[in-house]
Order: sequence, then structure tokens, then C-alpha cells
Amino acid sequence: MSRLNVQLNRLRLANPILVASGTFGYAGEMTAFANFSVLGGVIPKTITPQPRAGNPTPRTVETASGMLNSIGLDNDGLEAFISKHLDYLLSLGTAVIANIAGSNADEFVEMAARLSQYDKLAAIELNISCPNVSHGVDYGTDPAKTADVVSKVRAASSLPIIAKLTPNVTNIVQIAQAAADGGADAVSLVNTFQGMAINWRKRKPVLGNIIGGLSGPAIKPLALRMVWQVAKKVQIPIIGVGGISNIDDVMEFLVAGASAVQIGTANFFDPTLATRLVGQLDELLAQEGLQNVSEIVGTLKTP
Ligand code: SIN
Repeated sequence: MSRLNVQLNRLRLANPILVASGTFGYAGEMTAFANFSVLGGVIPKTITPQPRAGNPTPRTVETASGMLNSIGLDNDGLEAFISKHLDYLLSLGTAVIANIAGSNADEFVEMAARLSQYDKLAAIELNISCPNVSHGVDYGTDPAKTADVVSKVRAASSLPIIAKLTPNVTNIVQIAQAAADGGADAVSLVNTFQGMAINWRKRKPVLGNIIGGLSGPAIKPLALRMVWQVAKKVQIPIIGVGGISNIDDVMEFLVAGASAVQIGTANFFDPTLATRLVGQLDELLAQEGLQNVSEIVGTLKTP
């Protein structure tokens, strides 16, 4: 399917349909539902240097056209990821992009250097945007820190680097430009929007951590707007993410300027969606008379 090949600077993917971190576990959980080899890539749950127990429960709640989560980066840590999950992930026949979060630049660098020993990994996605931990968005809300952590990771790793950005900022273009200046191969736009749910009868927040991150179809217009704004100004490829749940959503993100997309919350209610979207995208591009998906990227006509 050469029509679907995409090149995101140093990262080449068979197609632009990825599954977003935190929505597909470590892939083994989804084996019954998905033929992973069809996908452009899989991004497993964020890993941290040490195991993390995560936030108090409840950690998720459904909202109108979306969900809030406050998982708090619950994971078994980097070494457990390598020993328990990496071989299986690398056997799937699709690009595996490790998603990492450190609490400071040194931790990001150490994790990236360790993972770079696995040259079958396709790339590293830096989670500088988790809204659910105390140090989560420190980097992704500050352009100087964003450029600093990206450039340090870039110097420490031979793998392509993707920066996953938070939308909880005033100027997303500035942060995306900082990631580009730091040497990121691409940016993922966007992580979740901070929100909350309240049980008014109990006068209590629903989530154990009070505030969580909103995802799902409710955020699609917001994510599209940010992709479009960044695509106009910043010269590195964008991976669009935010509420995509059908092929028209995929096309909207591509037209807005994304070179690839991640399917996130939709995996929870339709775990076969991402694999079906690959074939649907190929058909639609053929109907449009396009030779390669890149021909539709950023084609939005504005007055
Ligand atoms: C979480 O584990 O809290 C979600 C991860 C994220 O939003 O980056």
C-alpha cells in the first residue's frame, strides 16, 4: 500500500494510522481485537523510570462525547517494560513507538538512552504533557524547557523523537516551535484537556484526583484547531490526535495539516476501528485520485 507510506522526518511508517498511548495497553491486551501488522504503529502506555502506582480511584469517568481520566501514569517502570513487553511488541510487525515520561530532563535522557539500545524500536514519544501528575506538564507548558528536554534526548538517542504536547497552554504554536527547535522529528497534537466531573448531590468530585484529562469526540474541534494553527507556522510533521472516531475525522486532521493520526479514546468503544481505518483511508485516497497520502496533508482552503 505505497499510497499510505508516510515519512515523518527520520520516521517512516507504512501508513499514517497509529494507536495512541494509554488506549491499547501493551498491545497484548488487544490481541483478540486487532491485527496489529495492519497499523502504521502502536504507542504503548507511558513508561516512567520507576514503577508508579498511579492516582487514587476512580480514575475514569464518561462525559458527554468523551471521557476524563486521571490514571497518573500507572506503570511497572522502564525495566519491566523491557523485560515483559518489548519482545512481544517488536514481534507485531508494526512500528513500535515507546512513550516515556521523566520527572526531569535527566530522567528523559536516561530512559531514551536505554531504549536506544533496541534499534528495532521505531521512535520515542516524549510525554511532556500528562495532566495527572505533579511534574507532568512542566515541560510542555514552557517553550524553553520543551526545547531543552527535546534537544537533550535528541543528543542521547539515535531514534526519531516525537514530542507529545499538551493543549493546556495559551500558545500551542510557540511550544510546537520549541519542540522543532530542539530537534523533534514530529509533534503529537494533542494530549488531553484538563477538566473535572462533579457529583453535586454528594458535593464531591467524581475522580479521586479531582481533575483529569478530557479526551474523545468532545475535544476533536479543539484538537483540529491546534493542528491547523501549528501546521501553518511550524515546519515539522504533526501527528494529529483528539477524538478521532471515523474516517471523516481522519481526513479532517489530514486536511488541517496532520501527516499522521493517532486513534485514542475510540479504541475503548471500538477496538477494531483503527485497523479498519487503514483500508478505508486507502480507498478514499484512491477515490480522490491521490497517489500518496501526503498529497492531501494541509490542503485546507481558507478565505
Ligand atoms: C495518565 O496516565 O494519567 C494519562 C497519561 C497522559 O495523559 O499523558
